[in-house]
Amino acid sequence: RQTSTAARRLHRGMASKVGVVGLGLMGHGIAQVSAEKGFDVVAVELEERFLDSGMTRIQQSVGKIAAKAVAKGKMDQASADAHVASALGRITPTTDLGALASCDVIVEAVIEDLSLKQKLYTDIGKLVHSECVIASNTSSLSIGAMAPFTGRPKQMVGLHFFNPVQLMQLVEVVKTEDTDSAVFDRAMQYAKDLGKTPIECIDTPGFVVNRLLIPYLCEALLMYERGVASAADIDTAMRLGASHPMGPIALADYVGLDTTYNIIKGWDKQFPGQFKVPASLAAKVAEGKLGRKTGEGYHKWVGDKLA
Ligand code: 3HC
Repeated sequence: RQTSTAARRLHRGMASKVGVVGLGLMGHGIAQVSAEKGFDVVAVELEERFLDSGMTRIQQSVGKIAAKAVAKGKMDQASADAHVASALGRITPTTDLGALASCDVIVEAVIEDLSLKQKLYTDIGKLVHSECVIASNTSSLSIGAMAPFTGRPKQMVGLHFFNPVQLMQLVEVVKTEDTDSAVFDRAMQYAKDLGKTPIECIDTPGFVVNRLLIPYLCEALLMYERGVASAADIDTAMRLGASHPMGPIALADYVGLDTTYNIIKGWDKQFPGQFKVPASLAAKVAEGKLGRKTGEGYHKWVGDKLA
């Protein structure tokens, strides 16, 4: 049934095959939701060990979601098992970038290193077909700074997902001055096909969410540094006083203190005097306390949960 979904999409001129480059925190989720929604997925990593860890994460997450659907009575066990098997079966893990040649949408989700991305886009641009949507999941770099390297700037957009990709509903679809409107429409359609809600925006630092969210997280860290309240109480305040699902300091830990730091530091360099980089954030990163992923940041973590 799922293969016929892909075939139907192809028949209607819609994306059928998705390439995801980078299977880390964001990329594994993008590959997973694409496969769960019936897309054939080529999952590319530069090294086998990163492919293995990305695929392990996908297996755990898809299993968790299926088990939850069974527990809630939304699916019987046999359908859940079939869903997991077909989603995993639709993903082709590879270290060969050339496997992207047949993809209709490519989402790059490698680390936030502009020169690495530019080199990657030079290679990707030579491989893809003329209808392919080339998308970056960058959280803070300029899409326009990457697009020319593809040699196909009309085909380039931003597709910015949120962590955890499996649960978060939003995708920011980012256009540059060069993005072709048909390419942009296909990118919007792909986000909708994933069951997400896309919003359109232009290519400015942090797009919509991170431009608002990252300064807010940093304000919370600065407040903690001033001793206004404990980290736990600042979090409780925003959970119960503003109905946020997570407090800002827990969220900084959840997103990754290195990611939060790199974004604010990058903006501070680009726009001197406009942003404040919390000293405690720089210190945590220097200590290797990066939040949830290392088990400790401002809080202690056990797996996905606060200790
Ligand atoms: N895959 C599958 N299941 C998952 C999962 C994943 N990756 N992550 C969590 N779950 C499951 C949990 O196991 C749990 O299942 P259970 O109910 O059976 O135990 C369920 O989802 C709910 O999770 P939690 O119990 O941890 O509790 P919450 O209800 O608090 O949900 C949350 C977790 C969705 C992360 C919620 O706390 C939340 O929305 N937090 C804010 C997240 C956010 O703001 N993200 C955006 C960050 S910014 C960003 O990504 C941009 C980037 O560029 C920096």
